[in-house]
Amino acid sequence: MNPLHSFTHPPRVVTVALNPALDQTIEVAGLQPGAVNRALRMRIDAGGKAINVASCLSDSGVHAAVAGQLGRSNAVLFEELFQRKKIANHCCYLDGLTRVNTKLADTVTGETTDLNMPGPEFTPGAAADLLNQVLERLERLAEHVDWIVLSGSLPPGIPVNAYATIITRMQAAGIPVLLDTSGAPLKAALATGPRMIKPNRHELAELLNRPLDSLASLVAAGREVLHSSPAPEWAVVSLGSDGALFLTREQTLHAHPLPVAVTSTVGAGDAMVAGLIAARLEDRSLIETAQLATAFSAAKLTRRGPHLPPLAEVRALAGHVTVSVID
Ligand SMILES: Nc1ncnc2c1ncn2[C@@H]1O[C@H](COP(=O)(O)OP(=O)(O)OP(=O)(O)O)[C@@H](O)[C@H]1O
Ligand SMILES: [Mg+2]
Repeated sequence: MNPLHSFTHPPRVVTVALNPALDQTIEVAGLQPGAVNRALRMRIDAGGKAINVASCLSDSGVHAAVAGQLGRSNAVLFEELFQRKKIANHCCYLDGLTRVNTKLADTVTGETTDLNMPGPEFTPGAAADLLNQVLERLERLAEHVDWIVLSGSLPPGIPVNAYATIITRMQAAGIPVLLDTSGAPLKAALATGPRMIKPNRHELAELLNRPLDSLASLVAAGREVLHSSPAPEWAVVSLGSDGALFLTREQTLHAHPLPVAVTSTVGAGDAMVAGLIAARLEDRSLIETAQLATAFSAAKLTRRGPHLPPLAEVRALAGHVTVSVID
């Protein structure tokens, strides 16, 4: 067990980071592929969706833990974030580096070129070992935990049913799971009935294998997922600058985005996931959940990195979120 695993309060939420990443941003004035480029600035942020969610939860006063995996060689950058935000670290340490995703930001054209790594390659044995260790740690934390968040992609070699396995085991132990992933892992995990899902419109269209290019088609798609069996209780479909749909079997709401000055849209969905969890922990109604989750995203949009202002400020924003009821 590593030294950062315990703080005074037990975590109420555990996020599972099976494929964390360091986000490296390099600024270049006039990027020239194939040439030697002199870069202006570089910053590295600990990231990956599950880490972003834990970071936003922690900023909003919710005690969070991260379980999953980190590469030993550059783990210190994650450990610093965990220490600063009092996030309990229950990650397994693997040999080598956590993947680094590089953004080349051209200050002349305003364009960003992304170079995203797939993550470490797991042999079947190493994959089974990691999954067992993560399950063991989740079960050890289960006593105090109210929600588990499964966010992000799976690295190569981790079976597509890894999230499905975690959902089955943890929900049988009485802990609800929020799932935010895409592609084959989303499809496999949906069949186990996660309590809540938050696809964006592209992830939902891919899941249902049809284009969703109108609000009506998105509403129908969300309702279809909620009437599958087993079905989530809540489905939230985020629509970028068009806001988000919040659905239960009884109600469908469209929360409109707040008109904030956007600094970075990266991780807006992760902030929304944190807001959904914060609302569930307070047992909020669907409309209050829609307002709070939208406020979390809006607050994040004004900042670079997965950081939020104090909760009082986010709650004030929530009061300005307008919500339409969809029949
Ligand atoms: N450009 C924008 N202007 C206003 N609000 C936005 C904008 N982009 C995102 N949002 C808010 O953030 C929420 C989540 O964004 P989005 O749908 O882009 O999530 P996502 O695709 O899951 O993002 P990611 O996975 O990168 O975190 C939206 O529902 C909306 O409320
Ligand atoms: Mg997302």
